[in-house]
Amino acid sequence: MKIYWYGEVESTQKIARQLIKKGVEKGSIIVADSQITGRGRLNRTWLSPPGGLYCSIIIESDRFLPVIVAVAVATTLCKIGIDAAIKWPNDILVMDKKIAGILIETSGQDAVVGIGINISDTPLETATSLSQEGIQVSRNSLLTRLYESLMDTLKSPKQTIRDAYRRFSHTLGKQVKIKLNEEEVTGIATDIDVDGGLLVKRDSQVKKIVAGDCIYIHSIKKKD
Ligand code: BTN
Repeated sequence: MKIYWYGEVESTQKIARQLIKKGVEKGSIIVADSQITGRGRLNRTWLSPPGGLYCSIIIESDRFLPVIVAVAVATTLCKIGIDAAIKWPNDILVMDKKIAGILIETSGQDAVVGIGINISDTPLETATSLSQEGIQVSRNSLLTRLYESLMDTLKSPKQTIRDAYRRFSHTLGKQVKIKLNEEEVTGIATDIDVDGGLLVKRDSQVKKIVAGDCIYIHSIKKKD
């Protein structure tokens, strides 16, 4: 395993892709102190000031990776005392606030697993950080724990990972609206399937959702 350390970069995802072209070995990690154009899922921006963990790990592509990585990140945070939960597909929350995000991109047979964890800063009001949750941990120690957890999870049976995902899930049992481009599906999130797709039940029909933005619909209390 090789670690490539950078100061400020555009995005560690971009550097990972450049290194893949140069034949970098699988398992390599790219870490930056900060990112100018940190990227999130669905073309969003990931604010990346100094003080957070921003890394991209190059591993073999697998369609179950969103589930594997979410479980690995949640397990890492849990082990340092954070009550982490996974919002489908792979946002990591504490209570209802985001503490970590995962972006998985493929490049041929390789996957670039981008992980951002708020350590000291909380870049948005809807977010939290490890220090805000009362946990002090160095970036290096967090990175080592994260990498080990990812390697362990990659070796675990799929069923074990899926069960862990269910236990960590913040989404299952909730009324959800999933948006993808022009399409919208609403219903109750009942389970994740063997590929990590979300199963949403509506009027006794179950629909499998493979990607999208998940919004919780809170039931509106009627006035007496
Ligand atoms: C999300 O929640 O939308 C995913 C956020 C992923 C952020 C990480 S930080 C390291 C890597 N480099 C990026 O530009 N993005 C990912």
